[in-house]
Amino acid sequence: MCGIVGILGKAPVAEQLVDSLKRLEYRGYDSAGVATLEGDHLERRRAEGKLKNLEKRLDAEPLKGHTGIGHTRWATHGKPTENNAHPHATDRVAVVHNGIIENFRELREALEKKGTVFKTETDTEIVLHLVDSFLQKGIKPVEAVRAALSELRGAFALGFIFAGDDDLMIGARNGPPLAIGHGDGEMYLGSDAIALGPFTDTISYLEDGDWAVLTRKGATIYDKTNAIVHRDAVKHSASTSLVDKANYRHFMAKEIHEQPEVVGHTLARYIDMASERVMLPVKLPFDFKDIQRISITACGTASYAGYVAKYWFERLARIPVELDVASEFRYREAPLRKGDLAIFISQSGETADTLAALRYAKAEGVHTLSVVNVPTSTIARESETVLQTLAGPEIGVASTKAFTCQLMVLASLAVAAGKARGELSDEDETKLVHGLVEIPRLMAAALTLEPQIEKLARDISKSKDVLYLGRGTSYPLALEGALKLKEISYIHAEGYAAGELKHGPIALIDETMPVVVIAPYDRVFEKTVSNMQEVAARGGNIILMTDAKGAAEATVDSLVTIVLPDMASAFTPMVYAVPVQLLAYHTAVVMGTDVDQPRNLAKSVTVE
Ligand code: AGP
Repeated sequence: MCGIVGILGKAPVAEQLVDSLKRLEYRGYDSAGVATLEGDHLERRRAEGKLKNLEKRLDAEPLKGHTGIGHTRWATHGKPTENNAHPHATDRVAVVHNGIIENFRELREALEKKGTVFKTETDTEIVLHLVDSFLQKGIKPVEAVRAALSELRGAFALGFIFAGDDDLMIGARNGPPLAIGHGDGEMYLGSDAIALGPFTDTISYLEDGDWAVLTRKGATIYDKTNAIVHRDAVKHSASTSLVDKANYRHFMAKEIHEQPEVVGHTLARYIDMASERVMLPVKLPFDFKDIQRISITACGTASYAGYVAKYWFERLARIPVELDVASEFRYREAPLRKGDLAIFISQSGETADTLAALRYAKAEGVHTLSVVNVPTSTIARESETVLQTLAGPEIGVASTKAFTCQLMVLASLAVAAGKARGELSDEDETKLVHGLVEIPRLMAAALTLEPQIEKLARDISKSKDVLYLGRGTSYPLALEGALKLKEISYIHAEGYAAGELKHGPIALIDETMPVVVIAPYDRVFEKTVSNMQEVAARGGNIILMTDAKGAAEATVDSLVTIVLPDMASAFTPMVYAVPVQLLAYHTAVVMGTDVDQPRNLAKSVTVE
């Protein structure tokens, strides 16, 4: 994640920008920089590494401007060098960016054809030159940004200032958060309330697709159709802790909505955008060509991520995978072969059963690789290889963003394995990487289904039991959906392989039993439709989660059809997880349970 901040101030802003960036360092600190308007021209100070290097630079070459933007970087495109550090600027405009511009290659090629010379490896520079190209034609800054935004695809938060216009700052949000701070004759932009805590306690949060034009008098906010919209200004405790709920009612809601951003950052750690290849952040101490079998062990939601990965490793790398929950794995003393690979998945990295399973596997002499969200955790420290998810702190007991970040890491690893074993060609890899790169944007699109799901949750909350069905990689997601619902709403739910329904569970079906069917239009969709017919014939209420083609082809009446964006079928669980999570969340809100800390649970089960 990166952190961005902007100030339209009444006094020099450079120092305030740095103070604000310090509060955003948890988002990344590969490099940092500020840009201010000095008279009518733009000046920058940037430094590699931690913020203290930027402070030294500013001590040596102070900036006096009252209008400025700042950025602390966690590198996605291009190495963490000073040259790649934000803000990026031309003589006319400076920009800071958090997120990923998906179509940056085609935009860069188009701009280069028109003679634009790029100086960095970043995708952000595309945004800069796009806006600058409009300014050079004499288009005003607000129109130039509006025009540029219409050409961008991906998940991004942006901040702009302009030479010669001391009372103008523009922000835009599509995925990663961006907040507006309201001061007394001053206005602010920031990645979150934490960044703006020192300046104001009055915050408006931009929604996806919003962009805002700020002057010292206030902000005009436009939605994605460029219509002027109002976004409430809410009071925020200025002394916000490093992790706060922003404007969400629960941490779980915030963490569900953070997924486009954090999955995007995890993606950028594992995919080299320039070459469109998987680029693991660590060198593996084994060659996938030598791996005869993989065992995947985890608990709860993490185990369902592992279950999805089983399909991916077997399909993409043709490696047999054995999956087990840690509490069983460690006691059945699975026979492991030296040289094989054991993968452990854990958000906390402290789950006792998973740790014990890791220790068993190590004793058996296999390669151990853990996928964790806390790199300093015990499981991470005891694993031969660690692949980190970049979900950021996950506070809600029900795991959401960690789950989808785990899937992103595991998908990248499965592609790398398939390539290493010669099962995937260069073209296969490029196609799969394209599918991964669009996930953050698709997750942001899935989040727009929230109002429909919130309405559905009111019906679900009246149920005693709920069934979740899925096939292929949607089956582990059915298991996850059932876990999400039961652990926070306390409504009993079960996940089943759709094909298993007729082998028993169909006896449960009647008009009181909602059946959630997770079925993107893929090669097993028709089979799932026949399972839905079995349910409908017995009066069951179907909630179908599918895409447009699936909705058109499903010849069964469903209570509700939730239509997700079209996407590459290989990676649907990362996007279909969003409605599954939202359904559980809103049902729990209707039930009035303690969503972030459900009864009997703990965030990390560090006991057996
Ligand atoms: C997920 O919603 C649950 N809170 C729980 O199943 C959790 O996934 C499990 O305890 C594993 O935790 P870990 O990922 O920290 O190891």
